Amino acid sequence: MITLEFMNLGKGNNWFIGIIVALIGISSLISCISTPDPKEVIEQKVDSLLSIMTLDEKIGQMSQVRHFKDIIDEDIATKLIGSVIHTQGPLPGNNAKEWQQKFIELQKIALSTRLGIPLLFGVDAVHGQNTYNGATIFPHNIGLGASQNEELVEKIAAITAIEMEATGFNWTFSPCMAIPYNEKWGRVYEAFSESSDLTSKLSIASIRGYQGDVYNDVKVLATAKHYLGDGSTDYGIEGGNTSLSMAEIDSILLPPYRKAVLEGTGAIMVGFNSLLGNTMHANKVMITDTLKNSMGFDGIVVTDWQGYSRFGGNKIIDAGVDMVMAVEGDLDYFQNGLKDAVIDGSIQQDRIDDAVRRILRQKFRLGLFENPFPDTTLYKTIGCEEHRNIARKAVRESLVLLKNNRNVLPLNKETKKIVVVGEHANNSGYQSGGWTVAWQGVWDNYQGATTILEGIQKHSVGLVVYDENGIGDHLDADAAIIVVGETPYAEFKGDIGDGTGYHKLTLNKKHQQYISSYSQKGIEVIVILISGRPLVVTDQINQADAFVTAWLPGSEGDGIAEVLFGNYNFSGKLPHSWPKTIDDISGKYGPNFWDEDYSPLYKFGFGLTYPDKYSNNTVSIAYK
Ligand code: GLC
Repeated sequence: MITLEFMNLGKGNNWFIGIIVALIGISSLISCISTPDPKEVIEQKVDSLLSIMTLDEKIGQMSQVRHFKDIIDEDIATKLIGSVIHTQGPLPGNNAKEWQQKFIELQKIALSTRLGIPLLFGVDAVHGQNTYNGATIFPHNIGLGASQNEELVEKIAAITAIEMEATGFNWTFSPCMAIPYNEKWGRVYEAFSESSDLTSKLSIASIRGYQGDVYNDVKVLATAKHYLGDGSTDYGIEGGNTSLSMAEIDSILLPPYRKAVLEGTGAIMVGFNSLLGNTMHANKVMITDTLKNSMGFDGIVVTDWQGYSRFGGNKIIDAGVDMVMAVEGDLDYFQNGLKDAVIDGSIQQDRIDDAVRRILRQKFRLGLFENPFPDTTLYKTIGCEEHRNIARKAVRESLVLLKNNRNVLPLNKETKKIVVVGEHANNSGYQSGGWTVAWQGVWDNYQGATTILEGIQKHSVGLVVYDENGIGDHLDADAAIIVVGETPYAEFKGDIGDGTGYHKLTLNKKHQQYISSYSQKGIEVIVILISGRPLVVTDQINQADAFVTAWLPGSEGDGIAEVLFGNYNFSGKLPHSWPKTIDDISGKYGPNFWDEDYSPLYKFGFGLTYPDKYSNNTVSIAYK
């Protein structure tokens, strides 16, 4: 309450000012009584809607299906579906406008049901709206980890949210918050770093970018995934068992989730892996007791692919799962199986109500009841110059300079003749990796992307020739830029396992030959590595004059040339320790900075920069 004695008011008009002040005090009192807390308003709406829902409507809300494959459009109403996802397969349309129109049609079907609860449309937009051919594709998270740039990561997520809405989506299954312990895992590139601290910082930035309205009023639901220990399984096996100690789980794996919950992530996806022998999908201690009760997570716990039929049916619901990715034939099995369980009492009604409350809460928070449809003007923003400029900045900041003998870099733009070597130099599919246009990525150029070769041709004033197959027929060149690395993969298809499969920890013989063809020939040899993880390339680093790891840069391959020619300095730092030999990764885990006997080829946080003109050769350890 405002008191008047401290106000040293002039004579004569005391009473008038006193009345004004009193009125201000009363109005502010009324306003804080009359302006209800938005969180409270949402809870009241959730409770009132939940109170009139039937069991079928509740189980329908817990159902997530894949469009085109698992349902016909009418099922949205007959099965009372709560969420639709599109991963790959038949496209929703031939362009963004048609994609939006398709999802608007499905939304109208949902709104035509008795309660008209709007749909959530989910997509794996993990480095841009990467299911759409022509979208801006950013470096995968491992490259963003090398940038260490929280503000940039937030902006990338905000742009991704715009291009998601431009194609009709309001829920992304991102960010992946794995802590990869072993480079043999096929999803190292989806995570930011082996550092829990760096992972927390960049994940929070990502969630804020997706969900906040920091740059625009576009909001989508973020999903912290895959809870818990997906990247820390023994021997880097996707869906394997994580056998860390409880102390490590608590101090390394859980902190990013604690931060994500505090940041208000709308969803958390449980992983395919087991934790100390217990499948995560049915892990009541970790889901209900830890995540929901002690960490206070109030969002949606969603399964991974076919989680219901793969990990114990109603056991996962009892464990605390709220929404089921009921794909590939799981829908009726899930809906009927859960209904029977509620009727026979093996699943409590309260558990169903908790799940549906969480789903409705996120739908209200997204404002879907007021505005269930995407902004149809946004599709013009897809792949726009402004977005691509940010992506190119991310490419520049993701590059890590591991070696620069004789300061062969930065290259002189006037260099008379440069030979660019290797198929990876002119293939935007290769430079983007998995989850690009298709689940497993594409092995060719895609719409709107710029290749590494195109970037070099754009920035060089001299002659640039291309030796795609590395036959070494340009030994009169002054410099050779040799681009080698991995072909795209996603999930278990990228696991290296015992090393006898297609993907290996070393370069293939062909790529090793590219480098041999040009090294020790009096030509400056610059190697650019395109990979989703650190590889064992010690010999190739020794052969090269300069060696750059570019990870999976995405659509803006010309960001690499901007740094090679010195328009920008290197700033990237290794987000992972770099192995010296295959033996470094022969056990359960690869080299990680918290190991006692830590002796990698390059330490976590290593990264050179250009000398003198920019700064001294600096090496900094980023995060412990
Ligand atoms: C996959 C992945 C998960 C993805 C989901 C939907 O199996 O494990 O990261 O979000 O299915 O595509």
